[in-house]
Amino acid sequence: MAPSQIELAVELLSTNEVVCIPTETVYGLAASLYSEKAIDKIYALKGRPRTNPLIVHIGRKEDLAPLCIEVPAPLQRLIDRFWPGPLTVLVEKSDSVPYTVTAGSSRVGVRMPNHPLTLGLLRALPFPLVAPSANPYNAISPTTAKHVQDYFGTQIPLILDGGPCQQGLESTVVGIENGKVAIYRQGMITTEQIRELVGDVIEASAELKLVNKDNSTNVPDTEKAQASPGMTLKHYAPKTPTLLCEHLEKFYADAEGKAFLLFQKKHPALPLAHQYVLSESGDLAEAAARLYQCLHELDSRSYRQIICEKFPDIGIGRAINDRLLRAGGGIIS
Ligand code: TXA
Ligand code: MG
Repeated sequence: MAPSQIELAVELLSTNEVVCIPTETVYGLAASLYSEKAIDKIYALKGRPRTNPLIVHIGRKEDLAPLCIEVPAPLQRLIDRFWPGPLTVLVEKSDSVPYTVTAGSSRVGVRMPNHPLTLGLLRALPFPLVAPSANPYNAISPTTAKHVQDYFGTQIPLILDGGPCQQGLESTVVGIENGKVAIYRQGMITTEQIRELVGDVIEASAELKLVNKDNSTNVPDTEKAQASPGMTLKHYAPKTPTLLCEHLEKFYADAEGKAFLLFQKKHPALPLAHQYVLSESGDLAEAAARLYQCLHELDSRSYRQIICEKFPDIGIGRAINDRLLRAGGGIIS
């Protein structure tokens, strides 16, 4: 990327504008932490409720200290291991973080993304950036500059194109509850990886396990939504009705108009042309990297329904199931 793109981004971000930035997870819609005007623009562009806070992005580990009162030891251990990378930590904010960014909460979410272009930008700026995923509220997150262009077109003055996002799923969000690490959003850093470093963890996103298998909808998630408002159930959704499904056999005689999004293998009893495999080698990281791109594509075709196979409930598979469950509004069959 030419340096002039970074210079242009610096200028826009320094004058109350928003700029779209690439990260290793998904593209973000960025504004200065200190520009109320640009933050207003982000909420307006996304149609996002003001009750849903924004993640602060920093270019160096040492930029965290001024943003918070203290970093609890277990979170520091995770930061040392996983930054720069797809991990967001919730810490008690300092006075320098405006409440508009945290939606009134005393905790701020911070992460150091791992993308050379955006790290370069962050290090060239005298302030951190807030950046939610660059999609309208509840729509599928963008993993290419084109996805952002399709969503917002000329409404954004600059989209920095950093190529397709290498990881493809949003960061894991963690905080501390009663001295233990709590996971509020499953992501590319897995529960297993976190447990290995800090021992016992609380899975605050565990409400997803309570979904009934008989098609009934999920438990109310208001409590969890308060801990981390992005946990609302209908989220990351294509326009096409989407369903996460454990038993694809039930569609053998009912496949008309349906697309099937699969992990590794096609089903001989389903129409081959309408099956989309995310990783033939059975690599969950590859499947995650391709997931949103594939949902964007299927959504642009005229399918009546997208049926998603349930992934193995381990490692990154859990983050994938989490997103697919939300894409379907929490219904599983
Ligand atoms: O990978 C990512 O995290 C991407 C890239 C652009 O960095 N960003 C992203 O942001 O996914 P967003 O706004 O789409 O999702 C942020 C999540 C939401 O679930 C939000 O509720 C939670 O983080 N969050 C952010 N700040 C919080 C806070 N202060 N307290 C609780 N939850 C917070
Ligand atoms: Mg988002």
